Amino acid sequence: MAPRPPAELRATVLGVGAYAPPKVMTNDDLARLVDTSDEWITTRTGIKRRHIAGPDQATSDLAIVAAQQALDAAAVRAQDLDLILVGTATPDMLFPATACVLQDRLGAARAGAFDLLAACSSFVYGLISAGQMIASGVIRTALVVGADTLSRLVDWEDRGTCVLIGDGAGAVVLGSSESGRGIYTGRVGADGSAGDVLKVPAGGSRIPATAEAIERKLHRGYMDGQAVFKLAVRTIPGLIRETVAQAGWTMDQVDLIVPHQANLRIIEAMASQLHLPMEKFVVNIQEYGNTSAASVPLALFEAVQAGRIHAGDRLVLAAFGGGFTYAACALVWGT
Ligand code: COA
Repeated sequence: MAPRPPAELRATVLGVGAYAPPKVMTNDDLARLVDTSDEWITTRTGIKRRHIAGPDQATSDLAIVAAQQALDAAAVRAQDLDLILVGTATPDMLFPATACVLQDRLGAARAGAFDLLAACSSFVYGLISAGQMIASGVIRTALVVGADTLSRLVDWEDRGTCVLIGDGAGAVVLGSSESGRGIYTGRVGADGSAGDVLKVPAGGSRIPATAEAIERKLHRGYMDGQAVFKLAVRTIPGLIRETVAQAGWTMDQVDLIVPHQANLRIIEAMASQLHLPMEKFVVNIQEYGNTSAASVPLALFEAVQAGRIHAGDRLVLAAFGGGFTYAACALVWGT
């Protein structure tokens, strides 16, 4: 008998973790801050509550809880990690990277560490990047985190944005597998010409964080909500279709889609365009709002906890965000 060819090496998820800060803000709480209502927020977005970081909680403080949980679930020790990749648009500070803060706090002495900024798409971009490093044999084990504290950037007087966001963190530990399970493929994309629809203008090298910039609120997030909505609905269904085809699957073989939680109506529009029932989408926006890079791993974690994901299931993780960026990853669950 001819020897079996070696199975393809793939990165696969060994463990998942997530964390949301305990402080909860309801729609009624927001209605006391800005001119809005529970009815408006619920019908336009699907959001009922969001979790907000305490004054002493920076992004790494959320990330470390999710990371430790993912390591425990994976039965991997921090000192055995080769890489820590943190997807975030709200690092603890401009540099060093939040991944380096985590590397130190976790005691992951052997791990390389860097942050990746693709706004709300950062986690999926990071998953694909770290997954490729594993599949190519460059590294064996990686911690990929999506964590953001958008509450620190949002304009709490702008009802068009402050009702949408929440804080959180999610993490996965990736290892390698030759079982045929794991990450099949990923697609990343961007349209830099649409960068103005969602941005934080100040705090970088173009407009440093001066008193004048702060006075003009340029350190706060700006969003053209309708433009983002249209971009998402135009881009993401096609992105999911292409990713599924690139994995060699058909749409009806996909068991579950874990989409970025930005607006329930965007997820419903995706379902309708893809001719898929809403049961195939993980939705937890009602509890967390838009947690940016944390949104996909937080939804993945909750789906795992709820027993909605089984070994062998075909999943698609898909996200979009400022940039305009978008990314999707197709994977078969299990080791
Ligand atoms: N409460 C009450 N009224 C509000 C409001 C709020 N929180 N925010 C906006 N409004 C008002 C507007 O001022 C407008 O009033 P007008 O008709 O008198 O001018 C009206 O509601 C409609 O606003 P509009 O912007 O057309 O609403 P919308 O249906 O497009 O919903 C968003 C707004 C922001 C919820 C929606 O566009 C959205 O979710 N966009 C995508 C955002 C996103 O995904 N961002 C993150 C990407 S990673």
